[in-house]
Amino acid sequence: TVRHPTRVSPAGIADIGHRGASASAPENTLAAFRAARSQHADYFELDVQQTKDRTPVIMHDTTLRRTTNAESVYPGRSPWRVGDFTLRQLERLDAGSWFSSRFRHERVPTLARTLSEMEGSDLKLLLEIKDPSLYPGLTSRVAGQLRAQPRWLLPGRLIVQSFDWGSVREFHRLMPAVPTGVLGTPTAAQLPAIAGYAHYVNPRYDAINAAYVRRVHARHMEVFAWGAGSAADVRRLVGYRVDGIISDRPEAVPR
Ligand code: G3P
Ligand code: CA
Repeated sequence: TVRHPTRVSPAGIADIGHRGASASAPENTLAAFRAARSQHADYFELDVQQTKDRTPVIMHDTTLRRTTNAESVYPGRSPWRVGDFTLRQLERLDAGSWFSSRFRHERVPTLARTLSEMEGSDLKLLLEIKDPSLYPGLTSRVAGQLRAQPRWLLPGRLIVQSFDWGSVREFHRLMPAVPTGVLGTPTAAQLPAIAGYAHYVNPRYDAINAAYVRRVHARHMEVFAWGAGSAADVRRLVGYRVDGIISDRPEAVPR
């Protein structure tokens, strides 16, 4: 398997904006991705799901309630599942006002639009395939969209991850040159098999310690940890020698 070291400098840690710079702008919108760039993140992270008419779109929750105004635009469509709406219907939604009225013009971005809007930036992409068991064909559709925008396939520009390790394995089979990551905390017994198709193990910050990071490194994989909020938690991750920190505040990650 090809390895792609991500450390920006010998002492550096990759700085990844979680759902963009999601403390500064509504998560998973183009505004949040641009904010990650202004905060000098190395990567932006996003979550891909799929509309009813099978277009990959960027959204974290599997329903539209929390981060759009779907309840008022489409009353009676409870529980407002992402996969129950067509792209045209999603495009009518306001995906920013829940965060601040300043962002009322933000829309739910498609993956295709995000790839083309962010292509010219120097940001790298950490792409999460979210709940693919709900969306038959999503993993290969994501691969197809990436093939159509090949600048994202330049070495070191992209990592694809999922909590669904079957999807990670499938993606690795489809695009073996693209580094992949499993989300979660695999056991020592699971690591050898994972090393056959993944390059990253990306756990919650409070599920690991220095010995865990050493164990993943011994299998020639890297660790991007997520969920750390306080400066003390971030410092602890630096002490564990993680390779990257996925944070709502990329500006606060030490460089
Ligand atoms: O990239 C890690 C992180 O995004 C995983 O959790 O729930 O924010 O998608 P979640
Ligand atoms: Ca995510």
